[in-house]
Amino acid sequence: MSRLKRADRPYDLVLFGATGFVGTLTAEYLAAHAPQDLRWAVAGRDERRLRRLRERLPGGADIGVLRADVAEPASLYALAEHARVVATTVGPYVLYGEDLVAACADTGTDYLDLTGEPEFVDLMYVRHDARARETGARLVHACGFDSVPHDLGVHFTVAQLPEGVPLTVDGYVTADAAFSGGTLASALNQFARGRQMLAAARERGRHEPRLIERRVTAPTGAPRFAGEVGAWALPLPTIDPQIVRRSAKALQRYGPDFRYRHYAAVRHLPVALGGIAAVGALLTAAQLPAARRWLSDRLRPGDGPSAQKRARSSFSVRFVGEGGGRRVFTEVAGGDPGYDETAKMFGEAALSLAFDDLPPTAGQVTTAQAMGDALTARLRAAGITFRVAAGG
Ligand SMILES: NC(=O)c1ccc[n+]([C@@H]2O[C@H](COP(=O)([O-])OP(=O)(O)OC[C@H]3O[C@@H](n4cnc5c(N)ncnc54)[C@H](OP(=O)(O)O)[C@@H]3O)[C@@H](O)[C@H]2O)c1
Repeated sequence: MSRLKRADRPYDLVLFGATGFVGTLTAEYLAAHAPQDLRWAVAGRDERRLRRLRERLPGGADIGVLRADVAEPASLYALAEHARVVATTVGPYVLYGEDLVAACADTGTDYLDLTGEPEFVDLMYVRHDARARETGARLVHACGFDSVPHDLGVHFTVAQLPEGVPLTVDGYVTADAAFSGGTLASALNQFARGRQMLAAARERGRHEPRLIERRVTAPTGAPRFAGEVGAWALPLPTIDPQIVRRSAKALQRYGPDFRYRHYAAVRHLPVALGGIAAVGALLTAAQLPAARRWLSDRLRPGDGPSAQKRARSSFSVRFVGEGGGRRVFTEVAGGDPGYDETAKMFGEAALSLAFDDLPPTAGQVTTAQAMGDALTARLRAAGITFRVAAGG
């Protein structure tokens, strides 16, 4: 365990990767919305750029600056020791993320990230969950658009349904997707690692305790026209259904037999077919080093959609939940999913871990499991819609 007890640490929160695209948006969000007495620091590998960032943030004089580099594990350990909570945007996580997870697990520091990489999440479970349980660290992955609206949206939907009965929830996602350099790099890297991803999932399966007397599944649904939401439903192979499944396994409230299916909702068939073709092309390109390099060169680290483009973007996730003779329609909705709302979700999740009165959890946990209603309340207060829709 760390030499410094959690309460004695100089910072409540350290934001690592603060000079990147989403890191900067998160720093701006925290500077504008965090409580005045938050003791926090921006961290990254370039101290000069960190100082420049701090200078233009409101209240910047009170924000600490910490240098750390993923190539220097001791610097990551020092970050973990200096904070109660560390939030990191430094991805692709499967390449850059593990040493910080290890340091947080070892020092009892709460950790959160923006990964959408299943391989990384599974490996971190296998390698660091046990140590985090010993020290009390909460390791919370996927705290951005992957997977907060889906995980908390299902949690919110389940709360509208009867207790103690089998439940099903289908989620239908509509969102404007634009890549930042970091997101493109992470997606290409993940797409090129199909074999490693399956191996990590199998290894996790060997370590994870089996559920007793409950069943939780997240099958890949078939493409179909979903009359209940008036759109074509295409199975969406993101990390989200895996996260929802883990929340359902951890939380008894999801009932004795729970099923979640995750779809993209597309109104017009040609758009749906175009979407499938685009994902297929990206998957194919990711397998070819030359094509991967060409694509990576289109968007460099630090690049991302402009403020104007983000202002025109939005997302909506509609859920249809059923169980115990009741059917409910709910929705989670907001603005630009990938960046502005991701920075908000990430910032609020970090503040929730730092300050909210949360259920006692430790080890690798999901947003629903670790923060649940407290984070939903924060996001509602910050302008993200969670509602029971007409027809429910
Ligand atoms: N969950 C979601 O919905 C969601 C949404 C958006 C993004 N993301 C993920 O978030 C991550 C960041 O995205 P982004 O667009 O912000 O990427 P980005 O602009 O490339 O930022 C990456 C950050 O990593 C830092 N970094 C890289 N190598 C480092 C090293 N050796 N030591 C210390 N720091 C290092 C960079 O530092 P410098 O500033 O010094 O270069 C930068 O701060 C990606 O993995 C992306 O997939 C997830």
